[in-house]
Amino acid sequence: MCGIVGYTGPKEAYPIIIKGLKRLEYRGYDSTGVALLNHGLKVYKKKGRVADLEHEIMGKDLHANIGIGHTRWATHGEPSDKNAHPHTSASGKLAMIHNGIIENYALIKKDLVSKGYRFTSETDTEVLLNFIEDIRTKNKCDLEEATRIALKRITGAYCILLIDEDDPETIIAARKGSPLVIGVGKGEHFLGSDASPMLEYTKEVVYVNDYELAIVKPDQLILKNLGNEKITPYVTKLDMDLAAIEKGGYEHFMLKEIFEQPSTILDCLRGRLDAGKGTITMSGVDDNIQHFRDAQRIIMVACGTSWHAALLAEYLFEELCRIPVEVEYASEFRYRNPIINKGDIIIAISQSGETADTLVAIEKAKEQGAIIFGVVNVVGSSIARISDGGAYTHAGPEIGVASTKAFTGQLAVLMMMALKIGKEKGTLSEKRYTELILELDAIPEKVQALLKSAEKVKAIAEKYQHAGDALYLGRGFNFPIALEGALKLKEISYIHAEGYPAAEMKHGPIALVTEQLPVVFVATKDSYYEKIISNIQEIKARKGKVIAVITEGDEIIPTLADDVFYIPPADEVIAPMLSVIPMQLLSYYVGIAKGVDVDKPRNLAKSVTVE
Ligand code: G6P
Repeated sequence: MCGIVGYTGPKEAYPIIIKGLKRLEYRGYDSTGVALLNHGLKVYKKKGRVADLEHEIMGKDLHANIGIGHTRWATHGEPSDKNAHPHTSASGKLAMIHNGIIENYALIKKDLVSKGYRFTSETDTEVLLNFIEDIRTKNKCDLEEATRIALKRITGAYCILLIDEDDPETIIAARKGSPLVIGVGKGEHFLGSDASPMLEYTKEVVYVNDYELAIVKPDQLILKNLGNEKITPYVTKLDMDLAAIEKGGYEHFMLKEIFEQPSTILDCLRGRLDAGKGTITMSGVDDNIQHFRDAQRIIMVACGTSWHAALLAEYLFEELCRIPVEVEYASEFRYRNPIINKGDIIIAISQSGETADTLVAIEKAKEQGAIIFGVVNVVGSSIARISDGGAYTHAGPEIGVASTKAFTGQLAVLMMMALKIGKEKGTLSEKRYTELILELDAIPEKVQALLKSAEKVKAIAEKYQHAGDALYLGRGFNFPIALEGALKLKEISYIHAEGYPAAEMKHGPIALVTEQLPVVFVATKDSYYEKIISNIQEIKARKGKVIAVITEGDEIIPTLADDVFYIPPADEVIAPMLSVIPMQLLSYYVGIAKGVDVDKPRNLAKSVTVE
């Protein structure tokens, strides 16, 4: 997490940096800071959002043609003015911003303190910066060389940008584990954690790889590895436009992204699913079809919302492809000693493609011979690049911290994969395959229809805004959706919520049921329908409040539940792509009713690049 921006060129650096930081605030918003070079180093930083800093320094001399900026998600040291980046070195000549964690900073700090260094913050960043300065002084080398030496001696993750008062044209940048994109303009360069800060200036970008160091001047970009060997920068063209990262008339990115789902799902299916011909074309799957056909096991690795997509994929792959699936939290998997057999396929699911735990988990599995398949949204991201094959979700930039359209994109990709592989393996009959293809093809239109009842969800949300807790229950294909609904509510409204398999509720959570407890059932017409009606009755018998997501035409549950949301009829395998939508809207509207900043809920960050 943390967002970083840099600029060197003929333009005014400050407005580019501030605008870029606003676009990167999804990565963290505990504090903001900029460092500008213009006849000396000027650093402005402050606890709080980018707009707070912008307001505070309005009217100051912000003229400069080179600068760096940072928006922080705190790791070492609480959010405060002094812990805000950029940090300056002991000499006052160097300024640095950092995204990541230096794990061995304490030892280095101790050594530097014994040499007389004093620190003004509690951050690992200030330690790395002074370590670089110390090496430069001691070895009498240039900053580039000192940075290289320091980076070889630290452990952890980093993306750093470094400027030097004595070299007022150059930004030194390096990465390991945290993303870095360099935009190549005419006589200028832009740096960012993602490409959003540079979108209106250039479409030519270089994705910097781990263990690479860049020396960036207005008209020169030199890329080297940590062994000081030059690497030819690989320039790629961005396939993203400005409108995609703006609110487009919606009050919040989250609402915009919920409402974009008919088109993002369509974008995901387009060119792949041909309902007329009954085909699914996915080059990443085609290239690995033999591996999928032979796989004895698939392991799904993910975090957060992506983990819920993985859980649903377990149900799908087992049902349609008859391949055993294990679903793993990346953070657990990476630290275990997992048993990986030859031919096992790891499917890594990630919106950002940068989640540190997922990234390291697949790196480890790859070392052990697993085949890595990435289901990723951000094109060119780290997970996409280290995967052996993959399929992008094509949901476009997702900016709201809580994931919505990326989730339905993941489900669309995973459903197509399961259908395709099931057909290839012969575990899915021709008839069922055709039925499901048609069902999937109809989803964008059904989502469109479903979104028309958003106002109804809003009214129900307002009714429950004062709840202290909530339970979310579902069975079968809808169980992962219950988990996702509970997560959304926690993230966006700060209401404590738990998701459970509906039947499991009897083994504990039912003790929580009172007249005050809202219990959200995902109870669409499927093979568990009769069973879940019994579960609803068990809650009603204890006077709990029941909110149910049900299928249009259902005449039973409306007589039992306090409130209902309808979704259009759909096959039970596909229905979760619909039943999750009222969950997203419910959490959004509860959050709004409670006055939460839904796009940037407290303590969270969208892209978690620290473990
Ligand atoms: C963070 C975000 C979640 C997201 C999770 C995994 O916690 O707030 O919305 O689901 O990371 O992120 P990924 O980018 O790997 O899907």
